[in-house]
Amino acid sequence: MIRLIIMSDIVPFYHNRIEYGADYNPEQWSPHTQRKDIELMAQAGVSLVSLGIFSWDRLEPKPDHYSFKELIETMDILHEHSIRVDLATATASPPAWMATLFPDTLPVDKHGQQMSFGSRQQYSPSSQTFRKRTAQLVTHLARAVKDHPALCLWHVSNEYGCHVWESFDEESIAAFQAWLRSRYTTIDNLNNAWTTDFWSQRYNDFSQITAPAHQPTFVNPAQLMDWRRFCSDALLECYLHEKRILRTHTPTVPVTTNFMELFPWINYWSWAPHLDVLSEDSYPDPADAHSGMRAALSADLQRSLAGKKPWLLMEQVTKAVQWRTYNSPKRPGQFALWSLSRVARGARGILQFQWRQSQGGAETFHSGMVPHDMSASSWKDSCELGRTLQNLSSLAHPQLRPSPIAIILDWDNIWAAEALIGPSQWDHSQAVKRWYKTFFEAGYGVDFVRSSDNLDTYRVVIAPQLALLDSQCCERLEQAARRGAEVIVSAPAGIANRNCQAYLDGYTGPLKDALGVRVVEHWAATPHLDEPWLGDETTHPLVDRISSAVATPSFHEKTELVTDSNSPLARAARQALQCEQLPALQGNHWAEVVSIDADDVHILAVFAATGPTTDIAGSPALTRRRIRKGALWYCATDPQPVLRAIIAKLACTYAGCYTASAHLPRGVELIERDDARFYLNHSDSAQEILGVVGHDLISSTQCSGHLVIPPRSSAVIIPGNSQ
Ligand code: GLA
Repeated sequence: MIRLIIMSDIVPFYHNRIEYGADYNPEQWSPHTQRKDIELMAQAGVSLVSLGIFSWDRLEPKPDHYSFKELIETMDILHEHSIRVDLATATASPPAWMATLFPDTLPVDKHGQQMSFGSRQQYSPSSQTFRKRTAQLVTHLARAVKDHPALCLWHVSNEYGCHVWESFDEESIAAFQAWLRSRYTTIDNLNNAWTTDFWSQRYNDFSQITAPAHQPTFVNPAQLMDWRRFCSDALLECYLHEKRILRTHTPTVPVTTNFMELFPWINYWSWAPHLDVLSEDSYPDPADAHSGMRAALSADLQRSLAGKKPWLLMEQVTKAVQWRTYNSPKRPGQFALWSLSRVARGARGILQFQWRQSQGGAETFHSGMVPHDMSASSWKDSCELGRTLQNLSSLAHPQLRPSPIAIILDWDNIWAAEALIGPSQWDHSQAVKRWYKTFFEAGYGVDFVRSSDNLDTYRVVIAPQLALLDSQCCERLEQAARRGAEVIVSAPAGIANRNCQAYLDGYTGPLKDALGVRVVEHWAATPHLDEPWLGDETTHPLVDRISSAVATPSFHEKTELVTDSNSPLARAARQALQCEQLPALQGNHWAEVVSIDADDVHILAVFAATGPTTDIAGSPALTRRRIRKGALWYCATDPQPVLRAIIAKLACTYAGCYTASAHLPRGVELIERDDARFYLNHSDSAQEILGVVGHDLISSTQCSGHLVIPPRSSAVIIPGNSQ
């Protein structure tokens, strides 16, 4: 009998608390340590653990011999102690017998080298044997635990694509051919889309197509784009394959898999609708000054992927990871501070990798909540955060405010950075991160949107480096501007369609009419020479009569822009930066020659007669065109931080977007939800904020107008005179 599952059949995962816990890998420890673990979990306030992520060899020690006794006993004990279980399907790390008995499951790298056993995630996403073996394991597992009261969430596999996002084995190539056949139907359609008439690449049949593995030189850009799309879909198929089985046996249990921040190899927009609970793992590097921002970006991304709904931080580290070359610890306070930054952005649970730090194996020196030595700060910090999250239980049902600002994030454009060959180094995901940083630093929240989304509710929209642009996205951008948004399109934009075929008659492609700006020529600067032709020898005017007479203005890192000292841009600069002197307005190593095709395009800045734009000095660099209630901007360079901040300031002013953070002390971030105000002090000094009246849930004190927040810590205020 076929049973239809409707969303309301699924048991709600979130309870009236903010979940707290970790990956729990008890296989590594003796029964005595496991008993101790349960006591310690109670002390730390653990409410949820992810169990069995790497336990395939325990659950199926030999092919078709299943053993769930230990697992169920662990679940029983956890349940007795009111700890819920996010149960992994354990398929992330196939056991040794898989590699020896079924070597066809092993992935093959770009160079044709088959990977071997001894690490983890060694499976080819398209291996039918692997799919069959996972189906069997998941079926037996689901049957064994389906009525267990601790089971509250399924955790399918682990970090899909983290280590192996593509495999070049024969089955994968056959699957790629089948995927192409269903996308293009006929080989002629594919030949047209891939422009195979160039370099004699025409195919007669889908069976001739291979994966873009090891080739003499550049691979066909459209082929590489399709390979990336296929690889993301192949992994999604692995997830859905397991999810279908789980739905059959446990129709009411929600299902998740853990995303990894802004992971480049998987199109999370296409995955997100298939997750009942959205979850992510996030590991900002404490040695990087941008890490507070990275935690925020990643959280806003998950909130956006979840449809502006709550989500779960499935993994972070208490102190330090072990997998970077250098693994610095979080500074005192940052573990809690960055956790609250996630809670403020809708996280309904904070979990760590892992509960108890391993004694051996690849992750021995990765911190755990329970450290090797109990007097290490991880344990104290873990208990403290557990208490803090309990104090925040009243915020367990977040009322998140929609942001007025949106940044378009598009995986095709991430992949295009690799697929398009020249004319410069672009990076859509870097551009996305950088624009996010601009708004984060200025105190604005940001939503991420896909290029096909309706943008009507936004007041400022950023389209960063959308080199590949389709007409649907252009319509969305234009419509948003008509409805009143300031839409900032930053170069390169619309140089090609989604098959990497250049737009003729203007690189702003389908957006050129609305922008009133047509890009006619690319003007790339060269920050580093690939191969200096004479090594490190430079020209010497005394002897190099010819070579020293020619300048190379394009050999430069930055472009420079000029604006009138009274222009709106200059005024915004003075306001944004609170300085009288206009700072240098610079872009990264990219410029374009544009033609202005409409009378009402306002030129806000032009390129300077220096560096790479020496030969196009005076050419428009930043434009704005009013369209009904809003405007479309075009920035013909990749703006550096100061220029971005000024553009953002001016756009927000035109759009009437203001932020309450503007007057906060340096280092303090304010996130306003309808139910609370999160003040996060990222700085190294205590900060004082006047005018705050309300109850601080963290310190359980009443604040009557004068809030002092210690370094790297937070206050969560429920506004009002009394609790
Ligand atoms: C990932 C994995 C975990 C663990 C952590 C370490 O997030 O999912 O199993 O390896 O990295 O940081």
